This record gives sequence, structure tokens and C-alpha cells, in this order.
Amino acid sequence: MGLQELRETAEALVAPGKGILAADESGGTIKKRFDSIDVESTEDNRRAYREMLFRTEGAADHVSGVILFDETIRQKAADGTPLVELLEKQGIIPGIKVDAGAKDLAGSKGETVTEGLDGLRERLAEYRELGARFAKWRATYSIDSKSKGGRRPTDYCLDVNAHALARYAALCQEENLVPIVEPEVLMDGDHDIDRCSEVTEFVLKTVFQELYYARVKPEGLVLKPNMVVPGKKCAKQVSDAEMAERTLHVLKACVPVAVPGIAFLSGGQSDVEATARLDAMNKMGGVPWRLTFSYGRALQAAPQKAWSGKAENKAAAQAAFAHRAEMNGLATLGKWAADFEKKAA
Ligand code: 13P
Repeated sequence: MGLQELRETAEALVAPGKGILAADESGGTIKKRFDSIDVESTEDNRRAYREMLFRTEGAADHVSGVILFDETIRQKAADGTPLVELLEKQGIIPGIKVDAGAKDLAGSKGETVTEGLDGLRERLAEYRELGARFAKWRATYSIDSKSKGGRRPTDYCLDVNAHALARYAALCQEENLVPIVEPEVLMDGDHDIDRCSEVTEFVLKTVFQELYYARVKPEGLVLKPNMVVPGKKCAKQVSDAEMAERTLHVLKACVPVAVPGIAFLSGGQSDVEATARLDAMNKMGGVPWRLTFSYGRALQAAPQKAWSGKAENKAAAQAAFAHRAEMNGLATLGKWAADFEKKAA
């Protein structure tokens, strides 16, 4: 019974032509985003902004689910409708971020461990009551360059984060919530693509081993990994085709065929870069999972800028969001082309 529901939800999240909107920025992160468009981060502004996104006509054509923050899953639209209900009416599945953030890892300077396991079983039960059907937990891993010793990520960091991800995922499945398992190897730094590939492979192998120990069912989860790319400051960047080839190579070595889908994070890539690379992977194909998006910044940068906190910009902001969602929807099918971007929002 449980597995059947988990499977159906996971498959719906990665349905062809669709992907996930990550709108689960914590208080600190949404403030940073709003600062960049000169908007004060008040509860009402956060509600108005997210309500505007969720009311975008036709959003469900390309958005299967939305990851919410704790504040948002409890919020009501201006007319009193719960935001969760707005999503459900559109045919979009509500989800929830349940980790409590990446905190400094004691004993390993420069590394983090994601917290939030205490009381998680009870919180998951409440979120399910509030309408969530899936959840998200993000672990982060930083890479330091060889010139600085090439120490990070340490085995210790890999172990503690994989353990936490597995305990989270098991608790989610117990509550019939699909866990989005997000181990993110960060793009910051000057490491090359080989190092990103090596680290991503080790991270994914460690995570899937722990998921297995925790009896997590691969059929009822969605993996949310980084793409295999050179560090942002690496002098040698690569083509979309090379990046696609390298990413699929690592995923094939690590991800069980039983996992229904892989929904990439954007991680600081530009909007169009994130779309082009997802498209390149889907054009390449030959993998047993659906490959889609679970983007935060790459879906929201354009609508945020168009909105800039002004009600009169609502239509332009919704058009910008609809455009990015459509482009990424095409990329999930390997049917995007750079020319389509000219039909700007
Ligand atoms: P980005 O796409 O901006 O990396 O955000 C995805 C996300 O959900 C991070 O946890």
C-alpha cells in the first residue's frame, strides 16, 4: 500500500515534460534574494511573491511539484485560500523542505552537516496533514583545490551526511512522503571537472549504501544531485555535451535502476545554462531514469527581477516564470533549442 503511493507520487514528480520548482528558501536565503531586487523580506511580501508564482496560469503544464518552506505551507493567499490549496487546484503536488540547514561540522573545519532529525517523525506527520506529499533534505559538500591540500570533502563529512540523508528518507517513507534526497557537491572553487566527477561518485556511492542500510525503497524516492561540472573558478570550463557525458557516466555508476527519476538542482548555474545542460543530457539519453529539474534560482531569477516587489509587474513576472518552466519542460524531453529563448518572456 505504502510503496504503491510512494511510487505513484515519485513518478508524478518526474513525469515527462515536467519538473519541480524549489521555492523553499529559508528566511535568510529569501532575504538575500529580496535584497538583490530591493524588496523588504516581510511575511506579506514573501506570501505575495510566492502566491504570484503559484497562480501562474498553466504552471502545471511544466511544474509537477513545488517544494515549500515551513512558513509557506501554513500561509493563506490574499483571498484566504491556503497556498497549498492553490497548488492542488492547479494539479501541482505540494512538498516541504524538512532539514534545518547545513551547520558547521565539529572536528572538520570548512565542512557542514545537515541538521533536523530531532522530532522529524512528528514534523513529517504534521506536514502530511497540511498537504505535503513529498519532502526535501539537502546535504552540501565543498571541494578544496589541490593547491590547498585537496582535503575536502573528508570521509567523515561524507559519512555523517549520508547517514542523516538515509535516516530522513526512511522516516519520510514511513509517513508515505517521497523523500527528495539531495546531496549537493558545491560548484564553488577552482577544481576541475575530473575532481567534481570523482567527488560526486564517492558521495553518491556513500549515500546509496546508507539508503540501503536504512531500508529505504529506491522505487519511492527521487534523487536531486548536482551536475558534474568544473568549479566556477576553474580556468578550464567544458561544453554542455562533455558535461552531459560526464554526469551520466557518474550517475550510471551509482544510481539503482529502480529509482524512478533524477531531478537536478541548478546550484548557481545561469538560467539558460541549467536548461541547456539538462537538455543535453536528455538528448544523449540511454539511461533508465527520467531526468528532470528541481530548480530554485534557475527558475526564479527571471520572475524575481521582473516582479521587483510591485503588484503592477505581476503579469510580466508570471510570464517570465512560465517561460522558464516551459523551456525546462522541453529540456526534460531533449526538445529545447537556444532559439526558443528569443521568444523572451
Ligand atoms: P538551486 O536550483 O537554486 O540550486 O536550488 C535548489 C534547491 O532546492 C537547493 O536546495
